[in-house]
Amino acid sequence: MNKPKHIAIIMDGNGRWATAKGKKRVKGHEAGAEVVRNITEYCAKNEEITRLTLYAFSTENWKRPRLEVEFLMKLLEKYLKQELPNYLKNNIRFEPIGDIRAFSSSLQKTIKHVKEQTKHCDALVQSLALNYGAHNEIVRAFNKLKNKENITEEMLYNALDCKEDVDILIRTGGDKRLSNFLLWQAAYAELFFTDTLWPDFTTKELEKIITKFKKIERRFGGLNNG
Ligand code: IPE
Ligand code: IPE
Ligand code: MG
Repeated sequence: MNKPKHIAIIMDGNGRWATAKGKKRVKGHEAGAEVVRNITEYCAKNEEITRLTLYAFSTENWKRPRLEVEFLMKLLEKYLKQELPNYLKNNIRFEPIGDIRAFSSSLQKTIKHVKEQTKHCDALVQSLALNYGAHNEIVRAFNKLKNKENITEEMLYNALDCKEDVDILIRTGGDKRLSNFLLWQAAYAELFFTDTLWPDFTTKELEKIITKFKKIERRFGGLNNG
């Protein structure tokens, strides 16, 4: 049976969740942050899952209204500061991906601090994609390799922010697109799209997805054994 080692999630639908309840969009982001905590703790306790990559802010999300972007930045900083004891308690290593140089120096400091403080933890790597876009990641990787000759797949992989193939890629919120997420690493991921809006996503639904995933015949271009 397949092992769900690396799960990646496009956490979509926060705004619609709030709007449907007559609340401001930002309330959806707050509710979404609680779900991040639950899902992360579940994954840390599941021995098969070693990495959880969560799309939190894309390189395209700067196009949103200034106030929403500012709220998301503040929420992220608050979340990381609040979460540090939980990361340590649950043995979770925090590893951001994306180009965080675009963030305020205070937010960058918090991100680096939590990364440093949790670097010895090994129950789960929680990787938040922050100012992340796969195109941006691949271009930065090429720039790191620009003086090298005969670039191999391995060299390119090592120059990326996320260096591990995705096993399960989930998108909540009903849309069926990748929105510039892990284009290289998801080359052979099993894709799961659910209409559930992110603030309503539960560990139960994740368990159902994992059960389905385990039964899939992953051929990677070869032939099945049957
Ligand atoms: C995902 O929810 C969270 C971020 C992109 C930060 P959205 O904010 O995209 O919610 P919808 O898709 O508008 O409902
Ligand atoms: C993808 O959601 C990005 C994150 C979840 C952080 P979006 O809501 O930004 O994606 P689009 O605009 O529907 O493609
Ligand atoms: Mg969205």
